[in-house]
Amino acid sequence: MNFKELSKKYGTPLYVYDFEHFENQYNELKKAFKARKSIISYAIKANSNLSVVKKFASLGSGADCVSIGEVKRALLAGIDKYKIIFSGVGKRDDEIQEALEKDILMINVESEAELKRVDEIAKNLGKVARISIRVNPNIDPKTHPYISTGLSENKFGVDIETAKKMYIYAKKSQNLNPVGIHFHIGSQLTELEPIREASAIVADLVRSLKAINIDIKFFDVGGGLGIKYKDEETIKPYDYAQAILSTLSGLDVTIVCEPGRFLVGNGGWFLTKVLYEKVNGDKRFVIVDGAMNDLIRPSLYNAYHKIEVLSSKENPKVSKANIVGPVCESGDFFAKEIEVPETNPGDLVVIHSAGAYGFTMASNYNTRPRPAEVAVEDNKDRLIRRRETFEDLIACEIDYMV
Ligand code: LLP
Repeated sequence: MNFKELSKKYGTPLYVYDFEHFENQYNELKKAFKARKSIISYAIKANSNLSVVKKFASLGSGADCVSIGEVKRALLAGIDKYKIIFSGVGKRDDEIQEALEKDILMINVESEAELKRVDEIAKNLGKVARISIRVNPNIDPKTHPYISTGLSENKFGVDIETAKKMYIYAKKSQNLNPVGIHFHIGSQLTELEPIREASAIVADLVRSLKAINIDIKFFDVGGGLGIKYKDEETIKPYDYAQAILSTLSGLDVTIVCEPGRFLVGNGGWFLTKVLYEKVNGDKRFVIVDGAMNDLIRPSLYNAYHKIEVLSSKENPKVSKANIVGPVCESGDFFAKEIEVPETNPGDLVVIHSAGAYGFTMASNYNTRPRPAEVAVEDNKDRLIRRRETFEDLIACEIDYMV
């Protein structure tokens, strides 16, 4: 990947994606589940650029969506509607209605109240809603608290007993068809045991539902497979699949898996350029043209991203520095107290592992246009989202002309 050339050609700040990495990750995971029927449903919240989603569609991927907007993106990019799942802890009526009209694989229901809404809306439309229920297995996934979702203290899903009641209700309803079960205990998981435990708990529930003639066809294990940002030990896809499959004996289910980060995280880089250096007191700051509005993970989660500074100085001295953006917040940083060579303005800074939850979490804070996005595939690069302009930023604002 020639980052210098790409930054010259497209400018900075810039996201660059390696589509071959995406493909390899997809194939590796698909292969790991080959002992069973499986659908890999890419969690498009991780990176929802239409060209990225289209790439996954071309591989046969489904999509895990958390808003009707994401469902529409998935369909627009060519994802098979029978591989689309609509999850989320709060869905509006119009979203439920549209999902039913679009006839996607299933709506993943997260509360009793929502189940009743889906039932009513399906009835009004004269449709039968295929649903799954998100079970919260009360397992500690041992990840960052902001991205941990499988504990009873979290807002996601329902407990086992409530889920059972909901399945019985759904089975009785003319307008609900309970085809799936779902759990997702957290993101950036690096330990296998919590996944196996959660899967075992949910598989037991499937068995007890089977005993009362509720036949679950789709066993949705959520996403969450972690990636290497620094020196984490990560879970191998094969071991991950085996851990899940080992809990499913006697069950004839299709596995649904919803990875986001695993598929795209390490196939993305964020490129930014040095504007200036400055020293305040005893702190050295390298100020770059990208900021927290472009890539918020360091500010929001204190997340580590590997950073390479391509200094153009001859034999630069190396010393500790903070790499910061121009946004007016002290939390606007990419790294603190890391070893950085002396730089000249214009030197390139490459931030790694930025393919997941990078662009999708970007904002226009400080009226900053969001970066452009570039795909690299077959040794060729192409623009897949142009840089925003000031006009884009104000396009929705009305009533200000006097
Ligand atoms: N399925 C469900 C129901 C989810 O809630 C999520 C992520 C996924 C699948 C995909 O998870 P993944 O495979 O990417 O770990 N913004 C945070 C991550 C939030 C994840 C939210 N849910 C970050 O930057 O780390």
